[in-house]
Amino acid sequence: MDPRRARSFGAVADAYALARPTYPPEALRFVVPPGAGRVLDLGAGTGKVTTGLLDLGLEVVAVEPDDAMRAHVDTRAVPLAGTAEQVPLPDRSVDAVVAGQAWHWFDTAEALAEVGRVLRPGGTLGLLWNVLDDSGGWALEVAEMLGLEDRLSLVDRAATSPAVGCEVWRPWSRQLFPHWQAADPDLVVANMASRSVVIVQEAEQRLALLRSVRAAVPEGRFKVPWVCDAWRASVP
Ligand SMILES: C[S@@+](CC[C@H](N)C(=O)[O-])C[C@H]1O[C@@H](n2cnc3c(N)ncnc32)[C@H](O)[C@@H]1O
Repeated sequence: MDPRRARSFGAVADAYALARPTYPPEALRFVVPPGAGRVLDLGAGTGKVTTGLLDLGLEVVAVEPDDAMRAHVDTRAVPLAGTAEQVPLPDRSVDAVVAGQAWHWFDTAEALAEVGRVLRPGGTLGLLWNVLDDSGGWALEVAEMLGLEDRLSLVDRAATSPAVGCEVWRPWSRQLFPHWQAADPDLVVANMASRSVVIVQEAEQRLALLRSVRAAVPEGRFKVPWVCDAWRASVP
């Protein structure tokens, strides 16, 4: 985990809110136990997971360290400043903890201890990653160009597998949920501009990369193919 990248997102909070895909409702249902009431969205960012959980009728606490990201969180949720390593909630206060596109930024051991503390008995930890389907075409070209890590062809690499470092939480259930995002070239460029691997580049290099992205994507309106990689485990 590169701390500079982990905390880079606030600089592009607006682009992130605009251009990152939402999470499929069926993936959110998969990571939350039946009968859940209150859920913690950990590393909530601009609230993509939060809004999806709220739309399922759940009560959501959104914990996010970055003020600019947290400012976008849905007003129906309870937004709190905090980290995965120091969750500002009492013991046994939520039915599920969900982290979207965020678990890899946390200190695994400290985050697991905090998740175990705030979960009620029978609660679940759900981890989600929206990965770009890079099976071909412009998506493959862009993924290669940026050195994207969250892409379908790398979905089984160890770094995003929660099984690594989370042995006590086994067995993990896992399901892949393909979905689409309606887009145009500007949206794809904004999406790529919201990637930590791009944000931390020097300005000149960043602009050159984004120009190359723009040149690679088709004109007009099209669908971006995503796959939501969803993991669920129960508190031991
Ligand atoms: C890629 S964004 C994901 C945001 C959101 N969950 C989503 O699915 O769109 C990663 C988020 O994790 C936050 N973050 C980084 N380190 C964190 C930590 N140690 N604890 C909690 N959040 C953290 C960042 O500020 C950022 O908003």
